[in-house]
Order: sequence, then structure tokens, then C-alpha cells
Amino acid sequence: MKLTIIGGGSTYTPEIVDGLIRLRDRLEVTELALQDVSDDRLGLLAGMSRRMLSAGGHPATVTTHTDLGGAAEGADIVLVQLRVGGQAARLRDETLPLRCDCLGQETTGAGGLAKALRTVPVMLDIAERVRAVNPTAWLIDFTNPVGIVTRALLEAGHRRVVGLCSAAAVFQRHFAEVLGVAPDRIALDHVGLNHLTWERRVLLDGTDVLPRLLAEHGHRVAPATGLPADLVRRLGSVPSYYLHYYYSHDEVVVRQQKDGVRAQEVMEIEDELLDRYADERVNTKPELLTRRGGAFYADAALDLMASLRHGDHRTHVVNVRNGTTLPFLPADAVIEVPATVTADGAVAQPVEPLEPLIAGLVAHVTAYEHLALDAAVHGGRDRVFRALLAHPLIGQHAVADRLTDLIVAANRDHLPWA
Ligand code: G6P
Repeated sequence: MKLTIIGGGSTYTPEIVDGLIRLRDRLEVTELALQDVSDDRLGLLAGMSRRMLSAGGHPATVTTHTDLGGAAEGADIVLVQLRVGGQAARLRDETLPLRCDCLGQETTGAGGLAKALRTVPVMLDIAERVRAVNPTAWLIDFTNPVGIVTRALLEAGHRRVVGLCSAAAVFQRHFAEVLGVAPDRIALDHVGLNHLTWERRVLLDGTDVLPRLLAEHGHRVAPATGLPADLVRRLGSVPSYYLHYYYSHDEVVVRQQKDGVRAQEVMEIEDELLDRYADERVNTKPELLTRRGGAFYADAALDLMASLRHGDHRTHVVNVRNGTTLPFLPADAVIEVPATVTADGAVAQPVEPLEPLIAGLVAHVTAYEHLALDAAVHGGRDRVFRALLAHPLIGQHAVADRLTDLIVAANRDHLPWA
């Protein structure tokens, strides 16, 4: 099969190539088509990918494309992993909100809205152009903010779309390691929205071991949440790392104002990764890549692709249309839950009702996402303001007004309406 990566010049591409080599029995890829707007990055990542495949004894050929149509033509699956404006835009997303004592994060809060404003129009255009040459290809979105982007694509009538995040796979591995068992014996009752999820049960061979995990291994589980072990025990569920931006908001802001933001760290990691990829002697995934948040995302991505291709009815935690799964949300909201994947796509599995502590925040952020999408698609200062006002981490009109001005000014080059 042909796999196309839009944003193939990303430093994450070797993650996928490493997965192709390890998981070759599950997914037989004969052509890896890398597409990117930057020729330089494309050349660099294609070279690195070819060396890795050859060292790993994988027969796939690597093709490079700056043109989207050529890349998507004949592809079975198109994976989109791009960052509009690069890390420089991320740095602005993460630093501007700090001026208003609000969180500086690339997907949560004001930074996430700025990213959505830049990204949604580009993703809609890409999906349109892919569909024009290849209406049967599956589009897998690993581009943040995944929930809003996936909803944008589904609402624009793109049916063959699945949103992917590595968060559940990372927890699955982590719990397996703590328990000393193979990851595939662990299933998660994972519920919420992208980057706003809770693990309510951890099933080892079908039996819930979360109470035991928290009682005996709380000190190992809690660090992955960024929250104190005692709080995680009191919640009785394991919140994703992104929840600590809510539950510890003010503390995080003070820390960020003092120590700086994640974008700065990632920029240093990326510079070093690009140096390694340029080195002709390097032909395996650098260890340094594990310091990126998306480490191991290849396993989740390739496993999902295999299920879409083989229609094997396996369960994957993905971003899909709500329908009636969470009855207190609109049907067209996008939620992140375990889903059954067939050759026709991913369908959310039924979930147990959400307790108010979780349901309240999920409903609140879903309303924000609705307004964020409205602002990203239709533009306009007032829509940006309304989305910020609706966000649980912002919510005050003076702050929302100031952030609106900062975001619009900083992103003018990427917003056709500004
Ligand atoms: C996780 C999330 C991704 C996010 C990434 C950030 O993998 O699932 O959505 O992009 O972390 O990683 P970074 O290394 O860029 O901070």
C-alpha cells in the first residue's frame, strides 16, 4: 500500500518510519510518499527515511513531493502531521497568554485557539485537494488541535477522517510498565475530548485494576498526570497531563513565567534532531525523539491504519463524531473514546455515563470548541473574542479582549480575514 505523509518534513517522520520497520507484518507499505512545503526539510527527512528503511531491511520506496495532488494520488492512507507557522508560531502561542496571566500551551487555552485559527483553514484546503484526486483515501489527522480539526473536516463533509492522539497509547504503555505486563493486555476506559480525558478504568485482561494501581503505585502513576498522587487517588480516575493545566492553572502559569515554555525546549530538541538526520551515518531513530510528546505515536498510528485497511474490528482510542455516545453533547461534537474500527471507519463504543465532575468540564470545553471552529472557519475579531470568553481558563471579558488583540496581531500572516 501507499502511505502519504503531509508534513513529511516533520522531525516526527522517523518515528513513523521506525514503526513501519517494526510493525511490517501488520502493515505492508510499499511506497512512503513524503509531502512538505519545504524542499530542504523534505530532502533531509527523505534521506533519513531511506537510510532507516534500508538498515531495517524494509523494501518500501520513498518518494518526495511538494505538490499535494501528486503525493495523495493512489494513496491508501494520508497522514497529516503539520504545524502551520512552525515552532516560531508555537512559541508565540505559548508566550502571549502569559502576559495576561493565562496558560501558555499549544493546544489548551488561548494558545490552542490561535493554533486552531491558523490550522483549520489549511486542513480544510488539504482535505479538499486530497479528495479531488483520491476520494477513497483515509485521512488520519495527527495535527493539533486534533479535536477541533477533526470536527472541522467532518462538518465539511469529509467522511473518511479519523483524528488520532497518542495520549491513550502512552498511558497504556505506562500502566503496562508499572504492572510489569505486555501493553496489549491493557484496555482503557478512556473518555472525554482530545487533550481533556480521564482513564476511569484500567482493564488488565478484562479486570479493572485501577484501584490497585492507585493504591499501590500512585507515586508512579501520578507523575504522568502532572498532579499530586493524593489528588489522583481522590479523583479515582487518571486525568491526562492536559488536565493539570486546569486543576493547577495558576501554579503552572507562575512556573511558565519564571522558567519559560515548552516551545523553547522543543526548538532545541528539533535543532539537534535535524543535525542528526543530516548525518549520513545515522540510520536509526535517535533516542532524542523519545523526549518529544508524540514519542511512540507511530504504534498508535500504524495500528489504526492496519485496522482501517484490514477491517478487523479492533478497538482504538480515536477522535470521532459523538452521535449519541455522550448524550449531553451535540451529535456533531468530536469526542475521544475507544472506537471499533472497520474498513468503513471508526465508531465510538458505548460509554458509561460521566460523573458531573467530568461532564461539566467536557460540556464547557465542547462549547468552546464549537465557537473556536466558528472563528477559524468564518474569521472575525468578535468570533475570536467569543471563543476566548467561552473558554473555562479565560472567561473574563477584559482578558478575552486583550488576548483577542494579541492573537489576531501575532497571526495576521496566517489569517486571511485579519
Ligand atoms: C502529545 C500529544 C500531542 C502533542 C505532543 C506535544 O503526544 O498527544 O498532541 O502534540 O504531545 O509534544 P511536544 O514534544 O511538541 O511538546
